[in-house]
Amino acid sequence: MKIAVGADHAGLLLKERLVVLLREEGHEVEDFGTNTSESVDYPDFAQRVAQAVAGDRAMLGLLVCGTGTGMAIAANKLDGVRAAACTNTFCARMARAHNNANILALGERVIGAGVAEDVLRAFLETPFDGGRHATRVAKIDALGAGSSVQPAP
Ligand code: RB5
Repeated sequence: MKIAVGADHAGLLLKERLVVLLREEGHEVEDFGTNTSESVDYPDFAQRVAQAVAGDRAMLGLLVCGTGTGMAIAANKLDGVRAAACTNTFCARMARAHNNANILALGERVIGAGVAEDVLRAFLETPFDGGRHATRVAKIDALGAGSSVQPAP
């Protein structure tokens, strides 16, 4: 599977470790950086990975920052992106099975490397359940850029 990967300085070490894991497991990785410990702005890397996923250049994406939160917030600004910040395998499996998440966001300052590897594996091996979840995901996708505030149904 082709996977787009990105991190800021706070997620660099975990990103590097997970890139090794992904390649060992036979995935094709496109690494959008960062590749140094110099302080950078996480939205720049979220944007690159989100564009790769939304543009079908990669099937799934992985973003790592200090918490995973900023990366997920930034990536979710792009239409067609469903980024989920996960701290455990249950959330990772549900993010794929129920939400059809296409980007996993992890926090290097939140979880250890071993847990992060398990979370990543759970995310990659879980398919989308479809069915009633497809209806809900379609409603999420309809809340894209340009949608205005409407009364809730
Ligand atoms: C960087 O200090 C930190 O703010 C960033 O990595 C991330 O945690 C933001 O959500």
